[in-house]
Amino acid sequence: MNSKMRFLAIPFLFFSFLLSAAKSVTYNVQSYGAKSHGRSDSTNSFLSAWAAACASVAPATIYVPPGRFLVGGASFWGQNCKNNAITIRIDGTLVAPSDYNVLGHSGNWLKFETVNGLSIYGGTLDGQGTGLWACKNSGKHCPQGATTLGFTNSNNIAIAGLTSLNSQLFHLVFNGCNTVKLQGVKVSAAGNSPNTDGIHVQYSSGVTILNSKISTGDDCVSIGPGTTSLWIENVLCGPGHGISIGSLGKDFEEEGVQNVTVKNVTFKNTQNGVRIKSWGRPSKGFVKDVLFQHATMINVQNPIIIDQNYCPDNINCPGQVSGIKINDVTYQDIHGTSATEIAVKFDCSKKNPCSGIRLEDVKLTYKNQPAKSSCANAAGTTLGLLGPAGTTLACG
Ligand SMILES: *[C@@H]1O[C@H](CO)[C@@H](O)[C@H](O)[C@H]1NC(C)=O
Ligand SMILES: *[C@@H]1O[C@H](CO)[C@@H](O)[C@H](O)[C@H]1NC(C)=O
Repeated sequence: MNSKMRFLAIPFLFFSFLLSAAKSVTYNVQSYGAKSHGRSDSTNSFLSAWAAACASVAPATIYVPPGRFLVGGASFWGQNCKNNAITIRIDGTLVAPSDYNVLGHSGNWLKFETVNGLSIYGGTLDGQGTGLWACKNSGKHCPQGATTLGFTNSNNIAIAGLTSLNSQLFHLVFNGCNTVKLQGVKVSAAGNSPNTDGIHVQYSSGVTILNSKISTGDDCVSIGPGTTSLWIENVLCGPGHGISIGSLGKDFEEEGVQNVTVKNVTFKNTQNGVRIKSWGRPSKGFVKDVLFQHATMINVQNPIIIDQNYCPDNINCPGQVSGIKINDVTYQDIHGTSATEIAVKFDCSKKNPCSGIRLEDVKLTYKNQPAKSSCANAAGTTLGLLGPAGTTLACG
């Protein structure tokens, strides 16, 4: 090799090294023994594929082919991963054990913890929750059940085109996570399935939920303490309990909820539309800077509601005054039909009245008449329009 060639070869070798480092490696769960007939437990195959992807320095893809894969319960840890670009591409269905006692006390069916840089594309997660719902609805003593897919203390998560069916408990949960993007997610469970919230977010920042459809028995999206910079856009909810900030004020020492945007959401046959709820007891928590914009209500029982005396079923109600402070909540362009006469209800804390509540272009009807509103401790609420006739909202 003459000196000129050597001069060219060095950058070339360096460049090809970079290319190979960027090349993705694929780990097919079937190469680790996973079975697509849905009868034998493939948990260990999924964990082995994860371990391999995790140990790889190159971007890695875990591939789940078409078929039904029984997974008995798995925790995927990211703490010792060399990799911050793992993709899980799913063409098949992951199936939970049909006996709810198997996962009944485990908290989560599929759990990711301390993971940084994970994308999940496609796939169906079948939580097989119907047996547990029947047990709970019969009033018997039953295990709590498991969340289908839980993320804890994880960052840079992207999920697109995932379907979650019949979760035993919550479908997707993000706890202590930063920068999460969900797109085209589909959640489906019966309208009478207990505690099957679609997406639950808490102690998390920068979560975005786009273009999704959530039909379930509890909240479409529930927003817990410590949630900041949450964005929800183009979502269809129903059946279910609507989009809820709360319930808050469970604890005295509690982080607040701040900077939440909910845009272009349709609520169909839901119990609530946009809701903020807190228990009636002292708390340091708060809610501020919330925008509910462009919502369509179709036969919704409580289209707009702030309930600071939250106590479902009136069992063991704390019966005190809520310490949660609610400030700067804007409702803009909310229209459609209410299933009850009172479409706007603000039941705020006597100790901390709601402030900075604005309604702009709110048009809701009940049986083709302008719907009504009711307010407590929401003085100073900016008057909006209720109903086509322009009935004004009277907050004292
Ligand atoms: C509010 O949240 C959005 C994302 O939902 C983010 O882009 C924006 O920077 C946040 N604003 C503040 C003041 O944190
Ligand atoms: C509103 O959301 C629906 C999906 O729920 C979508 O089809 C529609 O295009 C969205 N509209 C706008 C203006 O983004």
